[in-house]
Amino acid sequence: MILVLGGTAEARALAALLVDDGLVVVSSLAGRVTRPRLPVGEVRVGGFGGVDGLSAYLQANSVMAVVDATHPFAARISANAVAACSRTGVPLLRLARPGWESDPDADHWHWVATNEEAAVLTAALGVRPFLTVGRQGLAAYAGPLAEHEALVRVVDPPEIALPSWWTLLTERGPYDLEGERARMEGHRADVLVTKDSGGRWTYPKLAAAGALGLAVVVVRRPPSPAWVSVVERPGDAAAWVRATAAG
Ligand SMILES: NC(=O)c1ccc[n+]([C@@H]2O[C@H](COP(=O)([O-])OP(=O)(O)OC[C@H]3O[C@@H](n4cnc5c(N)ncnc54)[C@H](OP(=O)(O)O)[C@@H]3O)[C@@H](O)[C@H]2O)c1
Repeated sequence: MILVLGGTAEARALAALLVDDGLVVVSSLAGRVTRPRLPVGEVRVGGFGGVDGLSAYLQANSVMAVVDATHPFAARISANAVAACSRTGVPLLRLARPGWESDPDADHWHWVATNEEAAVLTAALGVRPFLTVGRQGLAAYAGPLAEHEALVRVVDPPEIALPSWWTLLTERGPYDLEGERARMEGHRADVLVTKDSGGRWTYPKLAAAGALGLAVVVVRRPPSPAWVSVVERPGDAAAWVRATAAG
């Protein structure tokens, strides 16, 4: 059995390729999103219980290979995968879409290491920020942007209380340039805040911010363990799985 740690469009694309190849694939989701987009093949939902739980799962299910196709900002599960695969000897590949640092406009963006840093900088850069940093990172912004008119976009409502004068949008991409432009104009946004998630699905916000002259704050990705092999495309991950399964 092949285990795909998922929760991304790339993980769903990989699962489809592997199922087409006739391989037994189980995609694992954390269970954070209320109505997740489901991949083809088998799906399991919920945490494994840390490195020990994941190691036990790999052994109990005779997992032949693991592809960590989780989101670039899902650092804990990626670290757990490295530790559990190293402990059990199960081959591991990281599938991660490229980030946006090579974008022609990336030099004009404000790159920061954390949400906390992004929040303080955003407070200084504008008064009507558009926050697209995900539900889990929002707590860092509530204090520094307490006096700001923030527009917040998330897939599921956050668990924390946000200032009542902030506007909350619950929706899920992909987004297009015209829609993003209209969204920013409608809010009269002056700063866009995003994580360096990479990929095309959510990229149009950056193009729209550039066209409208908004300041852009980008939170850098957490570092990934150096010794893991990394590919950027589902097709390359599928080729690695085929070779690993054959060997
Ligand atoms: N972070 C983001 O910005 C983001 C954006 C889009 C999608 N996602 C997806 O949402 C999921 C959770 O992200 P996160 O940032 O909360 O992760 P995280 O901080 O790295 O993980 C926290 C814990 O959630 C469990 N977990 C995470 N991903 C899992 C998976 N695919 N299957 C089973 N358990 C998983 C693990 O619990 P145990 O230790 O108990 O195993 C892990 O220790 C990931 O699957 C990721 O691909 C995340």
